Amino acid sequence: MSGDTTEEAARRRTFAVISHPDAGKSTLTEALALHAHAITSAGAVHGKSGRRGVSSDWMEMEQARGISVTSAVLQFPHRGQVMNLLDTPGHADFSEDTYRVLAAVDCAVMLVDAAKGLEEQTRKLFDVCRHRGVPVITFINKWDRPGRDALELLDEIESEFRLKPTPVTWPVGGPGHMRGLVDVRDPDRMLRYTRAPGGAKEAVEEVLDAAEAEQAVGADWEQAVEELSLLRETGGTYDPESFLAGKSTPVFFGAAISNIGVRLLLDAVVDMAPAPGPRPLADGGERPLDAPFSGLVFKVQANMDRSHRDRIAFVRVCSGVFERGMTVTRAATGKPFATKYAHSVFGQDRSSLETAYPGDVVGLVNAGALRVGDTLYAERKAVFPGMPTFAPEHFSVVRPVDIGRTKQFRRGIAQLDEEGVVQVLVSDRRGEQAPVLAAVGPMQFDVVQHRMENEFTAPVRLEPLPYSAARATDAVGAEQLNKSRLVHGEAMHRARDGVWLGLFPSKWHISSFEREFPDSPLEALIAAHE
Ligand code: G4P
Repeated sequence: MSGDTTEEAARRRTFAVISHPDAGKSTLTEALALHAHAITSAGAVHGKSGRRGVSSDWMEMEQARGISVTSAVLQFPHRGQVMNLLDTPGHADFSEDTYRVLAAVDCAVMLVDAAKGLEEQTRKLFDVCRHRGVPVITFINKWDRPGRDALELLDEIESEFRLKPTPVTWPVGGPGHMRGLVDVRDPDRMLRYTRAPGGAKEAVEEVLDAAEAEQAVGADWEQAVEELSLLRETGGTYDPESFLAGKSTPVFFGAAISNIGVRLLLDAVVDMAPAPGPRPLADGGERPLDAPFSGLVFKVQANMDRSHRDRIAFVRVCSGVFERGMTVTRAATGKPFATKYAHSVFGQDRSSLETAYPGDVVGLVNAGALRVGDTLYAERKAVFPGMPTFAPEHFSVVRPVDIGRTKQFRRGIAQLDEEGVVQVLVSDRRGEQAPVLAAVGPMQFDVVQHRMENEFTAPVRLEPLPYSAARATDAVGAEQLNKSRLVHGEAMHRARDGVWLGLFPSKWHISSFEREFPDSPLEALIAAHE
């Protein structure tokens, strides 16, 4: 059995695509799945307009805003390996969700728009990868459109991220007049692509030797050869050790929309991305792959689909074999949890899942008791480090529009809190009738309003509070803040775990509170917007 686990784990590649909105993450996700023959036509995963597959309630909102709120988990085979691709929300307001997803992957593909280079959200997501020690592969997308010079883009990655870019593919022809790609490991040939219309099918790939390439594209080939020799001289060649240590990034060029360069990227995930390994435990130890089952809940989501009104907990298997029907223990409570309803979740489709190995993601249905950050285990106890909560910067009192729907209101707010859509705060002063919602970004409030109205049939009214900074504190600090005459702050506790938070109008007020009560403990929370 343990031999099986280690062998199966070695075949897994669990990764996520991170990017600034609009860089082409959905397009690339579909192109990757298409290449692995997981889907037969682009559009099956995210159900973009005019294509098939839209069913979730809040996908309406997602489409209207052009952002991805929901997360899809795709599993597909490629070259004898099992690929697990976890989707991440694109907008900065959902960075806490992204952080959680990145806790469940072994590698990230950083997507960069060739015309825009590194963007705000690329920077933030990269920071999260660095913080979590997740190695990053870079894909420079939209090379079929006018954009920036390839060497200039590499410079930007190196100077801003202190990350050595090591190109694995190199474009022949500048952005907007792409003639083909060179696989740097086989530099005397050019790969030429014939575009598949609308990206619906894989692009046709042709191999030209140097003489044929020279004849076909002339000066563009010569320039590519020159640039490649320059890169070799400056040491920009792929180095597995520094990549895994987070010091270099293999770089690929392409156009996801026409599937150009996508096969090479997918092969790179197989060849370069690390397989699951032993996982650090909260007590400083490690859970080896062949230990009994253990898993980390990295996402909880209800009502993903109108036809399945229930709650799914997404669990990354960290050790051992997961078998549907097994009873596992929830580390937080020591209570058993039956896994009769385990699913693999492919975009909006589900199918029962019987067995899963380290690196795989299991969707546990009817998982009312599970919370984000929970550890599940069988036989031998394991507790993985908890998921940090981000410092909220936006606060609003929430009330039901219709008092007659108080029951639905309470149920909905509690549900959204458990999913981590927002944090719910309560204070003795305000009472339970008027909880306060705390968010990293204001778009989280839009999700609350939309879901409260559409899923819980309890429309809500939000009233913003004049606070913009929060610190964790204790009961003494809370009392002092509520009493302070100088600082117009307020203390509340988090409904989820009882932790006291001090809310302040600004960071400046935090300093004056610290001067007024030097002994009062205030602890910084992870900042999302630095
Ligand atoms: P996102 O998930 O990162 O937000 O990006 P998405 O895939 O939705 O892509 C954003 C836009 O960029 C889309 O155009 C998409 O077609 C386009 N795009 C993605 N990859 C490429 C590429 O390689 N080359 C070019 N030229 N365009 C690309 P849209 O007009 O906003 O949407 P749509 O109507 O085409 O779906």
